[in-house]
Amino acid sequence: MLHPVTFTRRGEEGFETTVRLEVEEGTSLRRALLRAAEVDGVSVSPHNGAAAWVNCRGFGTCGTCAVEVVRGEVPPAAVREAWRLDFPPHHAGSHGGRLRLACRIAVHGPLEVVKHPGFWGQEEQSREDAEQDRESPSTDQGARGLGRSSPLPHTGE
Ligand code: FES
Repeated sequence: MLHPVTFTRRGEEGFETTVRLEVEEGTSLRRALLRAAEVDGVSVSPHNGAAAWVNCRGFGTCGTCAVEVVRGEVPPAAVREAWRLDFPPHHAGSHGGRLRLACRIAVHGPLEVVKHPGFWGQEEQSREDAEQDRESPSTDQGARGLGRSSPLPHTGE
């Protein structure tokens, strides 16, 4: 049985692309994404940049295959996955607590996932925040990845 998986890749500048693929029942999400590699010209790798080569190959320890599960049923994270998702740069509450390791999820139904920017896919800047940053160039770029611009004045350090 095949299940639809909607994959969104969110880029550094708020750019995002969504594609859909079909995944065989019970397949590891990471394996399915790596097998598909590209759909309609969009990379569906669960890894960003160099993390495609520098990763733990699915042992659930590097955290670079993290994706946000925005829709669909997945079982609760087991101990190793929960530990990795609460180890920097990830933290338990990131992305509304919806971050999961693609290598630890088997596909048993329709899923909708988002791959966020950053080596570990950890950055939380939304498309709306990126647009706001572009419209307000005086905002503190040091706050990128925190989901909003810093209200503190830039000290020049
Ligand atoms: S590939 Fe390393 S945690 Fe998934």
